[in-house]
Amino acid sequence: MRVLIAKDYDELSAKAFEVMMGIVKNNPYAVLGLATGTTPLGLYRRMIEDHNAHGTSFAHIRTVNLDEYKGLPKDHPQSYAYFMRENLFLHLDIEASNTYIENGMAQDEQAECACYNKLLAEMPRDIQLLGLGSNGHIAFNEPYTPFGSETHVVDLTENTIKDNARLFSDISEVPKKAFTMGVKQIMQAKQILILVSGANKAEAVCKTVCGKVTEEVPASVLLLHPNCILIADKEAASKL
Ligand code: F6R
Repeated sequence: MRVLIAKDYDELSAKAFEVMMGIVKNNPYAVLGLATGTTPLGLYRRMIEDHNAHGTSFAHIRTVNLDEYKGLPKDHPQSYAYFMRENLFLHLDIEASNTYIENGMAQDEQAECACYNKLLAEMPRDIQLLGLGSNGHIAFNEPYTPFGSETHVVDLTENTIKDNARLFSDISEVPKKAFTMGVKQIMQAKQILILVSGANKAEAVCKTVCGKVTEEVPASVLLLHPNCILIADKEAASKL
């Protein structure tokens, strides 16, 4: 794992942009694994600005997202499908039909997971973008998720529900379950880019980078990936 420390969130986003656009410019047909959450927003803003200023095209790019809340339809403002459309896709020339995310409304969980597994197998990702949970989760793979896991439905931990409550008007509105890509599938991406910002992630960064590879800290598996870059801002790197 290559660890880069940025002086602030802006520099973190600029470095992430360089890595992501290196992939897009090199291969206009690339498959990008994307993430939601607060951390990638600076990167997404830069991608939009670059598209507007330089016409970088995403017309042939395909994307696949990590996770989606169970029970939220794709036009629900708190759904991850909505988040991706509002914060990235609507502002690029990407085809909506080339963007994939789990269907949070699927009644048959098993069938939805099998369908996503098949999709992931057919679309090898050139890069997988990740954020880091304060408990070390990647996607919604919470502590003790087996490293061999594929797409599954997860009961979100109290910790994650609390962390995500800031985006809802009340904690009671945060869904308790989500579909998530598994750890095994995250590791199958050719390259991984994990972004971490803020002092509340410092402990998790430390456990990811300096500890042992253990299912207790899902992100620690990334130490085994041959091409992984972790970019942390100074606060997130403060315990390294
Ligand atoms: C998002 C995701 C989560 C977040 C993580 C960090 O698709 O899978 O693992 O990346 O919870 O979230 P933020 O960036 O909001 O701190």
